Amino acid sequence: MRISFEKACQLLQSNDIVAIPTETVYGLAASLSSEAGITKIFTTKGRPSQNPLIIHVKNKDQLLPYVKELPPQFNELTQAFWPGPLTLVVPIKPNCISTKVTAGLQTAAFRAPAHPLTQALLTVAGPLVAPSANLSGQPSPTTAHHVEQDLGIDFPVLNGGPSSKGLESTILYFADSNWQIIRLGALAPESFTSILGYQPSIQFENGHKAICPGQLFRHYAPNAKLILEGKPSNFTPILGFSDRHYPKGNPLILLGPLSDPEEVAKRLYDVLRQLDHKHLQEVWVDMDFPNHGLWITIRERIQKAAGKII
Ligand code: TXA
Ligand code: MG
Repeated sequence: MRISFEKACQLLQSNDIVAIPTETVYGLAASLSSEAGITKIFTTKGRPSQNPLIIHVKNKDQLLPYVKELPPQFNELTQAFWPGPLTLVVPIKPNCISTKVTAGLQTAAFRAPAHPLTQALLTVAGPLVAPSANLSGQPSPTTAHHVEQDLGIDFPVLNGGPSSKGLESTILYFADSNWQIIRLGALAPESFTSILGYQPSIQFENGHKAICPGQLFRHYAPNAKLILEGKPSNFTPILGFSDRHYPKGNPLILLGPLSDPEEVAKRLYDVLRQLDHKHLQEVWVDMDFPNHGLWITIRERIQKAAGKII
């Protein structure tokens, strides 16, 4: 159910939850100060309680009261990328954030989303916690319609149009004297080199422990089997690119042009949702694309959808 900006503010200020637009994906928001709202997020999504939430702030000033100490180059990173698709994990002061949000960690993840409607909400309602607004195990929603597919037509959604990035934020964590990427996302690893003086390493595990708890949980996989190797057999639908030629007899589902990874990223989750709606059994995916920039995130998300990695 599409709701007005005023209604969204009212629901957030009365311990309720609302789906909100961001430039990455839609979020399922509650006020950071509402224990009841935070609990409702976990039950609505079917989210494991060990998976902490991202705190959305308007800007750095809204984050400062919670932070114990700012890691090196924090200011440079926020100046360059906030508001935008970057989440930073930082050490927090004790007893100032609900343990439901942090899953008991001594750190919290913060991001300042760029979408103007959500920026305005943060001004009125203060910091908001928001995981992606999908049911656990579904792809993140990039339109209000996707949210309604998962949470029902009566669920309150503040419609802000399709998300412009279409992939979740990149998450950085400072450890062992360096920033590390603990979740690939809408900002390519190379984006940070000019600000940090080095490219952050991609670090999902520390020993056998996941640094980003969300990486431990089952990710979305369509009902269709995704085939990522070899050549497409006759008549198998192909998930491919609009600027490449494929055999004539195979139905084609287009991710967008190879020349435009931003467009492919923006369409990816919608296209994956379409596979289920078309009740396809098997789909051959064209994985012949570059290994740098946003393509690294696109490859990882397709491999996860194919069940090749968790
Ligand atoms: O783009 C996004 O980041 C979207 C929009 C709505 O902002 N949000 C999003 O939230 O993707 P969610 O809940 O689907 O993913 C948050 C990830 C999880 O993998 C969680 O484990 C990780 O952030 N996370 C949260 N707090 C953390 C912390 N203190 N340390 C490490 N990882 C953390
Ligand atoms: Mg999510």
